[in-house]
Formats: sequence, structure tokens, C-alpha cells
Amino acid sequence: MIKVSNVSKVYSLESGDFYALKDNNIHIKKGEFVAIMGPSGSGKSTLLQLLGGLDLPSTGNIVVDDVQLNGLSEKELTQFRRTKVGFVFQNYQLLPMMTVGENIALSLSANNASKEKIKSTVSQLLSDVKLEGKESQFPSQLSGGQQQRVAIARALAMKPKLILADEPTGNLDQINGEGILNLLSKLNQEDQITIVMVTHDLQAAQVANRIITVRDGLIIEDGVKGGHHNETMANRMA
Ligand SMILES: Nc1ncnc2c1ncn2[C@@H]1O[C@H](COP(=O)(O)OP(=O)(O)OP(=O)(O)O)[C@@H](O)[C@H]1O
Ligand SMILES: [Mg+2]
Repeated sequence: MIKVSNVSKVYSLESGDFYALKDNNIHIKKGEFVAIMGPSGSGKSTLLQLLGGLDLPSTGNIVVDDVQLNGLSEKELTQFRRTKVGFVFQNYQLLPMMTVGENIALSLSANNASKEKIKSTVSQLLSDVKLEGKESQFPSQLSGGQQQRVAIARALAMKPKLILADEPTGNLDQINGEGILNLLSKLNQEDQITIVMVTHDLQAAQVANRIITVRDGLIIEDGVKGGHHNETMANRMA
């Protein structure tokens, strides 16, 4: 599903080159639920942005769902993001001037879906995330947990096989956070959607079946729950 090969991300600063990611390798299979953990500034969001084609690596290769991201044109990258990936962010990123329904329909409209298709998809998604009746409301009229469910519905609109979530429960209280984690878990288990989720919260990471730990731009641990536990350094030396 995802193959990251020797990927680095370098920022040129006045003080010299800064490596946000250093020569990382990751394989993620279809249907996995992976949590990315690590301290602030360790490169988690950078990694997620690269996986979603929001940014390109400085060196190395990324293949997602048989699409090699390096070398795609801006237009192809936009199409990749729109059709293959659903993004969910900590601050929801809903457009405030658009209704819930319009927010969910964004990528469908951008891809010229018919009015009927948009109507039926939006109403199905609203029911999937238990927000029936909220279609004409504006994001500011919803609770944080509800807004995040709109964001998830929007992410699902194009039926992506991959969801990338950056701290999706970061702004939510315990109960709402659990609601979002349960929803992601259900999408993973029932629809085999591959999920990569950045989280600071060890409890949130427990819904994943694999935890990748990043520190200073390096994967320092990669463990499958209930299975083997890899120390990547040890692996490299073996
Ligand atoms: N555009 C940029 N220019 C220079 N440095 C950057 C840029 N974007 C990110 N960085 C640096 O790359 C490093 C990794 O950033 P990243 O946002 O991936 O961290 P993170 O693990 O997501 O942290 P947090 O948990 O705080 O969200 C940080 O040290 C950051 O300052
Ligand atoms: Mg981050």
C-alpha cells in the first residue's frame, strides 16, 4: 500500500541544512492501522505530508497505492490527493463559509460529480458519521467532535483507500476523542481502509495495530501489536 524508500526531507536554513527526516524506510500493507508517535518536532507531520503528496521528499521514493509520487506534476499530485487520500487534521480544517454538506462535497464537486451523486453521497456520509440533519448548518454551529466527524465524512467522499490523520483527537475531550477513534477503527476494520495516524496520546495509539516511533527525523522503533517488535537499528545491523 505504502512504500517509503530512503526518504529524507531537508530544509535549508541560514544555520545550514536541517534534516526533518533522515533516510527512512517504511512498508505499510493494505488494511493496516498505523500510529506514528514521537516528541514534538520529530518529523511526524512532515512524514504524513509526504505520504499524502502535500510535499515531496528531498531524496528517496514514495509509492502509495501503486502511484510513484516523485515526478508527478502539480496537477497529478492534486488528483492523487483528491482521489486516493483522505486527510484529517487536528483543527478540522473545514471551510467556515460553507455548510456541512458543502464541505463534505468539496472534492466531489471539484471532480465534477453530478448533483444527484453529490446529494446521495453526502446524505450517506452524514448518516455514516451520525450527523443526520446537520447538512445545512455551518461548522461554527457544531461541537468539536461533530466538526471532526464532518472532516472524516469529507475525507471519505472520494472513497479513498488511505486515511492520513494528524492528531485527529488533539483538540477533543476524552469522550469525543474516543468517538473519533472508534469511527476510524470501524472504517479500518469494516472497509479495510488503511490508516496512518499521528498521535501524542499512547491511549489513542492503542487502536492501531502497529506503532512507529520517530525521533529527530529517524524511525527508532516499529512494532506490530501482538506480534514481533522491531528495533530498526538492530534490524539494519543484522
Ligand atoms: N518549512 C520548514 N522549514 C524549516 N523547518 C521546518 C519546516 N517544516 C518543518 N520544519 C522542521 O522540521 C521538524 C519536524 O517538524 P514536524 O512538523 O514534522 O514535527 P512533528 O513531529 O509533527 O511535531 P509536533 O508533534 O509538534 O506536531 C521540526 O524541527 C520543524 O521545525
Ligand atoms: Mg505535527
